[in-house]
Amino acid sequence: MILKGNFIWMPAMDRLEVRENAWLVTSGETVVGIYDQLPPEYAGQPAEDWSGKVIIPAFNDLHIHAPQFLNRGIGYDTRLLDWLDTYTFPLEARFRDLDFARRAWKVFLNRLWAAGTMRFSAFATIHKEAAWALMELTEQSGLRGLVGKVNMDRNSADNLREETAVSLADTEELICRSRAELKHVGFILTPRFVPSTTGALMDGLGQLGERYDLPVQSHLSENPSEVEWVRQLHPDIPTYTQVYENFGLLRKDKTIMAHAIYLSDGEKDILREKGVTLAHCPCSNVNLSSGVMPLRRNLEEGLRCCVASDVAGGHTAAMNRSVAAATALSKVNWLSHPEEAHLTLTESFYLATRGSGAFLGQVGSFEPGFQFDALVLSPADPAEDLLERTPVERLEQFLCDGDDRDIAARYCGGVLVEKPFATME
Ligand code: GUN
Ligand code: FE
Repeated sequence: MILKGNFIWMPAMDRLEVRENAWLVTSGETVVGIYDQLPPEYAGQPAEDWSGKVIIPAFNDLHIHAPQFLNRGIGYDTRLLDWLDTYTFPLEARFRDLDFARRAWKVFLNRLWAAGTMRFSAFATIHKEAAWALMELTEQSGLRGLVGKVNMDRNSADNLREETAVSLADTEELICRSRAELKHVGFILTPRFVPSTTGALMDGLGQLGERYDLPVQSHLSENPSEVEWVRQLHPDIPTYTQVYENFGLLRKDKTIMAHAIYLSDGEKDILREKGVTLAHCPCSNVNLSSGVMPLRRNLEEGLRCCVASDVAGGHTAAMNRSVAAATALSKVNWLSHPEEAHLTLTESFYLATRGSGAFLGQVGSFEPGFQFDALVLSPADPAEDLLERTPVERLEQFLCDGDDRDIAARYCGGVLVEKPFATME
């Protein structure tokens, strides 16, 4: 495929590349290169002409709860543990109904597509059938990523709790089935968080992780009451991070931990050593009054971090808004911690494209060899044409105030992706 347009991408957090009136050539799923002049061997081949438009890497959201999409915006005057009991668990229990689940997954996938998230790592629910449906529908949608059946065998509502052995057997069944039947969607082990998983369940999941060499996702140190609860549940283990480590759930370079706000230096050492990716979720951390992750400090200390939505702790799946929120929250943090420079808008953009994409492979950039995932930006508001804007200014405006009306086309894995589901049936 050959595309013409104004390309912007970030090979590193401090490097913004802009190529105007350039040609991008792909081969199969990946980028071959970006050229000011189309190389002669491609002359005469059809090109997708997006002249004058800005083309950026698509978003990768490494922490999102697919069932909770239906609850976004609701109940944010509570804190994490009350919010889970009051709003989240009752909704997730509904996904026992497969028909309901399939409709909800289609709404969810249509929305991710619209907002420009081409790859993600999602929590489904505890239900095997519903989790499988999300995997299958994701494969059908043209989007790609990881999906986990959630594991919960303690401290949750009666209608959202599993027997330990059943939870492990269902998980293993989905691991095997997804490996046999799916190409672009993988399984990720998904213990909800320490308070809702017994030691026996975490131990069993750790063993599955080893046997099948699987990635893992969960929550870590999001809220002070949660951290205290974990301390009470595991009085023999010094820190929250070490509980996961103890059960083999910090798999090297294959683990995503959401939030990670309240960490000791010793925990940071473990997370760095294990190459854990910390998913910073600014919208969620503000909505649920959870706290402010010291994002710049963590990055400077060598921790891997990315920006994620955490729908429905986060109120929107639109990653441009999480990028803007990460920047805003970092500025608020700077006001009280002036020694910690705030993130710039483009640095946050990096953390939602190449930074998060790194967990999924060569994803999130237009460097040669990377998967070609892209969004073509085309401002919907005619007022945008009143002034000449540089491509970078257009990117800034999209990140701060854009929405799906401003995205003219979406590509994933080297192909144009159309709206996945026309009907909910
Ligand atoms: N901790 C455990 N479960 C959840 C969840 O669904 N959302 C958030 N934000 N934190 C959690
Ligand atoms: Fe979450």
